[in-house]
Amino acid sequence: MGAFNYRNGQFFAEEVNLRDIVVRYGTPCYVYSRAELESNYQAFDSAYTDVSHQIFYAVKANSNLAVLDVLARLGSGFDIVSGGELERVLAAGGIASKAIFSGVGKSSVELSRALEVGIGGFNVESEAELDTLETIARKLGKVAPVSLRVNPDVNPNTHPHIATGLKESKFGIPVDMSKALYVRASQSPYLRMDGIGCHIGSQITSIDPFVEAITRVMELAQELRAEGVNLQSLNLGGGLGIRYKDEIPPMPSDHAAAILPIVRYSGLTLNLEPGRAIVGNAGILLTQVLYVKSNGGKKFVIVDAAMNDLLRPALYNGWHEILPVTIDRTIETAICDVVGPVCESADFLGKSRSLRVEQGGILAVRSVGAYGFSMSSNYNTRPRAAEIMVDDNLCYLIRAREVVHSLYANEARLP
Ligand code: LLP
Repeated sequence: MGAFNYRNGQFFAEEVNLRDIVVRYGTPCYVYSRAELESNYQAFDSAYTDVSHQIFYAVKANSNLAVLDVLARLGSGFDIVSGGELERVLAAGGIASKAIFSGVGKSSVELSRALEVGIGGFNVESEAELDTLETIARKLGKVAPVSLRVNPDVNPNTHPHIATGLKESKFGIPVDMSKALYVRASQSPYLRMDGIGCHIGSQITSIDPFVEAITRVMELAQELRAEGVNLQSLNLGGGLGIRYKDEIPPMPSDHAAAILPIVRYSGLTLNLEPGRAIVGNAGILLTQVLYVKSNGGKKFVIVDAAMNDLLRPALYNGWHEILPVTIDRTIETAICDVVGPVCESADFLGKSRSLRVEQGGILAVRSVGAYGFSMSSNYNTRPRAAEIMVDDNLCYLIRAREVVHSLYANEARLP
């Protein structure tokens, strides 16, 4: 049972009645459960205790400092993809040596800063990036710790926008090209070739693609060993899916049971970069019903959260459960589209949902802890929502609601 549950018709986060959060902080707001975050992290970490391993939580899933802090205290490392995420990790009390830098387009400024603060590793995604990194490391008199992110050409059977391990995707280096690069780079005094990484996609709900990917990566590690390149780590990336509707994704323990036999005797450290599996179901979005109307025989529930707050439905047709915070059986059930105020037809949170709602009611949109707030924007000059972390019976404001004037504070009129 997760941290979000009904008690006598009232929806709670741990010991906090969500209605009280709305009274205190208003809507729309994201609410996260510390207990759920911690138990999701621990489920992953403990599944792998049999081998040397490190979890690098994928910061892009949810980069709030409080979330990073909770995970850092549990021993998590961080997978970052920008200089901005690096600064967040440092600001949250994370340590640079436990962060790894991924992404296809790291700038020279970002590479230099990461080297200067002593980043734990770079997941390098092209020969050109490797050359740039080497030049910068030479200039700074540093040795850059490197893993090449290879593209294992595995089909993760997920939404095409979040599949990343196929040959035709922009990510990674083809396995056959990577060997020569390893051999060459391992001669450089400014590069330390530490490992091999891959990340095949996100919201993956079966084990097979992970097994296929780690098997290819292991084969490559063995071939490299034969060539005299001795690596320390394998990185399987993130991607384990969660339940949004009726998916039955593998648990971290199932993931480990399939992966461990392949890596156990390799002597290599296994690195993992889960994002969604840690935060996805640890967060909800609370929103108030502004109006209810019928158009062309369809019922629309217009709420105060929109695609700028939660982009997943518009971008991936993502399905998120929507529930009333207070169950009121005097309201009739109706089939409705839950939509936001933004001027786009794609601005919806859910379609054809069976709900008991009326004007003024509060709805909770579930499973939005990952890629919810972190993908939000100010489209339509809408201030971004507040974020709150619940810890047992306490709640903390971990990001204040934006104020409108701050949205144009960096703009200027012509003289
Ligand atoms: N490592 C790398 C290199 C990644 O690119 C990603 C996610 C992860 C780890 C974490 O993957 P996860 O465990 O969260 O699946 N916005 C999309 C998801 C994009 C994922 C991008 N990369 C969504 O809302 O579904």
